[in-house]
Amino acid sequence: MDMQVIPAREGNHNLQDYEKTRKNFSWDDMKKNFSWNETGKVNMAYEAVDRHAENPVKKDKIALLYSSPDREEKVTFATLSKESNKFANVLKKYNASKGDRIFLFMPRSPEFYAAFFGILKIGAIAGPLFEAFMEQAVRDRLQDSEAKILITTPDLIDRVPQAELPNLEEIIIIGGNVENEDQYIDYQQEMEAASEEFPIEWVDLEDGMLLHYTSGSTGKPKGVYHVHNAMIQHYATAEWVLDLKEEDVYWCTADPGWVTGTSYGIFAPWLLGVTNVVRGGRFTPDDWYQTLEKNKVTVWYTAPTALRRLVSTGQGVLDKYDLSSLRHLLSVGEPLNPEVITWGLKAFNLRIHDTWWMTETGAQLIVNLPSLEIRPGSMGKPIPGIEASIVDNEGNEIPPNQMGNLAIKAPWPAMMRKIWNNPSKYESYFINGWYVSGDSAYKDEDGYFWFQGRLDDVINTSGERVGPFEVESKLIEHPAVAEAGVIGKPDPVRGEIIKAFITLNDGYENSEELLEDIRRFVKTGLSAHAAPREIEVKDSIPKTRSGKIMRRLLKSWELGLPTGDTSTLEE
Ligand code: PRX
Repeated sequence: MDMQVIPAREGNHNLQDYEKTRKNFSWDDMKKNFSWNETGKVNMAYEAVDRHAENPVKKDKIALLYSSPDREEKVTFATLSKESNKFANVLKKYNASKGDRIFLFMPRSPEFYAAFFGILKIGAIAGPLFEAFMEQAVRDRLQDSEAKILITTPDLIDRVPQAELPNLEEIIIIGGNVENEDQYIDYQQEMEAASEEFPIEWVDLEDGMLLHYTSGSTGKPKGVYHVHNAMIQHYATAEWVLDLKEEDVYWCTADPGWVTGTSYGIFAPWLLGVTNVVRGGRFTPDDWYQTLEKNKVTVWYTAPTALRRLVSTGQGVLDKYDLSSLRHLLSVGEPLNPEVITWGLKAFNLRIHDTWWMTETGAQLIVNLPSLEIRPGSMGKPIPGIEASIVDNEGNEIPPNQMGNLAIKAPWPAMMRKIWNNPSKYESYFINGWYVSGDSAYKDEDGYFWFQGRLDDVINTSGERVGPFEVESKLIEHPAVAEAGVIGKPDPVRGEIIKAFITLNDGYENSEELLEDIRRFVKTGLSAHAAPREIEVKDSIPKTRSGKIMRRLLKSWELGLPTGDTSTLEE
């Protein structure tokens, strides 16, 4: 095969010799980087914030460079430490304690980060929710996790169905006057009264820290449970993959409602004490470029969908900005198109480093490292300490260049430790000692991994993971919709878009207005990113004899592909 290869980056990277590091590596050795190695008692909030705040050289360094359309703020490690102490005291005052699930449903803001670390400081489990979620998405997550406290804003409180959340004891409102003081706690007022001192709760490495809900192909979203131990891998990958150094200014575009926004938007940069840029609100290409220029960002971690938008925006927009500070670019969440890598070389004179991982894996696993050549279209190689392979359905490894299940030898430091309230789901990920990802891929002779697609019906739209079942369930709540089947349809910019096939109830006529109403119904009931961009009315939806919607068949129809085995199709 005639393949264009991009040579390794020159210069002094944090991980210079991949093969050698890999050969001699053990995660136990990595633990020696941490002060807790002796006692085994840890807290992520200490390692990411307080440790720097205690350091006379580091304490006044900018931890957070925050901007949004109407606000700019610089927060030092010392301030972040104090503010999160105060918030930990507020939580204690309202009887929160270790192991409680405390959720954040709010846009990115300096208060978000103080609250987030306050939660970790009391040993509780943080559950960040994407701000675009609507009532049903919020309800499902707060119910399943039995959340005790919710932190939200006046704009978002209407989407919290309090009557259906018997376990929710307190709601803390940030950024507004709280009229009903019996019902809500006022963040501002409590913070003014709270002490800046807080004795951090030392926890075990295996104690819970974070719950991220994510979608599968069936059922409601699942609570992926992460523990403090993950910090070992966040630390290692911050060094090796993000290639972070003391003087870097780092920006990760992901929202903390998704795993990239916590593992790499919070933990990785701050474990190394690096200045972290946060940009609130939705972005346009000009916003992206402005944020890079204004903050003199040196390391940027983003997603193919953003990069594809930059490509299509053209050179004219790019030429308006001075982006000479950038030195390292990374991508995650979807396949990174080789054309985008080619564009990156031209636009920034930099390679774009694809990284592969999942909510469940907690941290990067298969990556392109600065010191390795890039084979455009490949996700790269497993980081030191990680064994990856392609396995068949019984968990047996298969030879190079053959497609199969992308699998990782379990466990590793950042791996999820359970699915909340769902042990059988958790078990189902593991076969013969391998964590089986649900992605299909192959490995070439030189150990580079090549992503091929999802093996289940999970949809990846603009890098956001959407379960078809959730969308179908919402669709059939609409009075006009009898049945619904939802698929991901390939799209040049978004990777996939959501397409719904529906049948209508008697008395409803197919019309543009009706379809628009149905779309809006999902958008306002579930979330904007889960609303189908296309809806097609059918006479019937193909189902198996046991009543399962045959999404594969819908997809084959949509793409004009052969329909394959339809022997299980209902008459
Ligand atoms: O299908 C893979 C795709 O995103 C899925 C994981 O989604 P999520 O849990 O939301 O986490 C996203 C970011 C960590 C994977 O199963 N995916 C992730 N990274 C890549 C990718 N597909 C292709 N290339 C990648 N680099």
